[in-house]
Amino acid sequence: MKRRDFLITTSASIGATLFAGGATNLALGALSSKAPIITDLKLQKTSFLLRDQPTKNMVSLSKNAPPPVIYGIQDQQMQLNVINGLDEYTAMHWHGLRIPNKMDGVPYLTQLPIGGGETFRYEFTPPDAGTYWYHPHCMTMTQMASGLTGVMVIKEKTDIGFNSEQVINLKDFRLDKSDQLKQPYTLRGAARAGTFGNVQTANWLQSPIYNHQAGSLVRLRIANTDTTRIYSLYLTGADGEIIAWDGHPTDEQISMPTEQSPLFLGPGQRVDIACKMPAIEGKSINLIAKVRANKKIMATLQSVGEDQKRNIKELKPLPKNPLLKPDLKSAQTHKLIFGWSPEGTVPNNGFCGSLGSNFWSINRKAWPGDDAGNVQPLVTMKQGQTHILRLQNESPNLHPIHIHGLVFKPIRSNKRKLPSNWTDTLLLLKNEIVDVVLVADNPGDWAFHCHVIEHQKTGLTGYIRVV
Ligand code: C2O
Ligand code: CU
Ligand code: CU
Repeated sequence: MKRRDFLITTSASIGATLFAGGATNLALGALSSKAPIITDLKLQKTSFLLRDQPTKNMVSLSKNAPPPVIYGIQDQQMQLNVINGLDEYTAMHWHGLRIPNKMDGVPYLTQLPIGGGETFRYEFTPPDAGTYWYHPHCMTMTQMASGLTGVMVIKEKTDIGFNSEQVINLKDFRLDKSDQLKQPYTLRGAARAGTFGNVQTANWLQSPIYNHQAGSLVRLRIANTDTTRIYSLYLTGADGEIIAWDGHPTDEQISMPTEQSPLFLGPGQRVDIACKMPAIEGKSINLIAKVRANKKIMATLQSVGEDQKRNIKELKPLPKNPLLKPDLKSAQTHKLIFGWSPEGTVPNNGFCGSLGSNFWSINRKAWPGDDAGNVQPLVTMKQGQTHILRLQNESPNLHPIHIHGLVFKPIRSNKRKLPSNWTDTLLLLKNEIVDVVLVADNPGDWAFHCHVIEHQKTGLTGYIRVV
């Protein structure tokens, strides 16, 4: 299908949607006097000093800076105008947000790719507070590898009691000797664990130092927005507690990582840590990543000023997000097998980029590419019902399995004891089988894929329909 044909057939309904949207706004306005949070996000090329020489042809939303942290408030409307200033297609996805399907940013499944010079207005009201993120879902491989990944913070309606917060966006870049972006993938990598970058950054910086008041309480929001790397993380010098996992307050406790048992944060995953800053000025907390045999300081929080003498116990517990309780007794189980792809299939380009080969599959079918035509959903669920997905990894590689628009929680694994916390991205180990439970409360066609982008783009993608 040609993108233009598609556009002509849908433009009539776009007008209707805008009208309906306006009516909804009026209704909302009557209930709440809060104006929507409006932000323009313009995709543009920029250069940035990642290593020794400026890296050109990076993609961001402003000049000489990484994509900004976007702030929203739970239950308050947001309007994000994505302006495509590039001469290629894009679409923006809000990872982890349980918003209406039309606003999910997946090309062909929920909207058309946004052409160069075009603007798409995303409007939604985030139902959940927490740490989320955004990235393109069209030209995903190259735009993300060029830097277009940002953190999205949805604040609670009440104050939890932190003195400050620190967002850390972890991301690798794959640079050549003159510090320019290399092709972000190799076919060899795509068929295995993925292709790794060679420069690890936090907020596009190497080992940045952030000042926070001595003895104060800092909310550390860490997001792994890399296309490939499973970050292996721990903190030194910190008194801390994990308070949220992939956006949602934890139900089951996750212990603080140490050098011996680091935290594995797969691509797409987030963790919120409540940290108490050292009481003495000049002392610091280091966030450390194990990268092969090395330990790399990803970021440092340094104590400044007078001791605030805070205590982690003074923090209010995070309010639970409005998630429905699963009804396990009525749940139906669906098997989803992740493995190699049958030989010979080639993904289509569909204006959203292709790696030219398929290596991966779900239930032995490789995704045919972004413009998937009338491919059927992996599973169809009735709205409101509880379902169990049996996620089975048939391969020796790890896969961060991600669902759009819904959240699930692990209930059993054949390999380990998994804390049962709500998530949108589950890191599936080698030959692991994990049952996750979900309540199909959000209608629509929801993308479902591995978040190693090379796997996503070479077959390990599908979608789940809720009607
Ligand atoms: Cu964060 Cu479909 O992706
Ligand atoms: Cu997503
Ligand atoms: Cu994968």
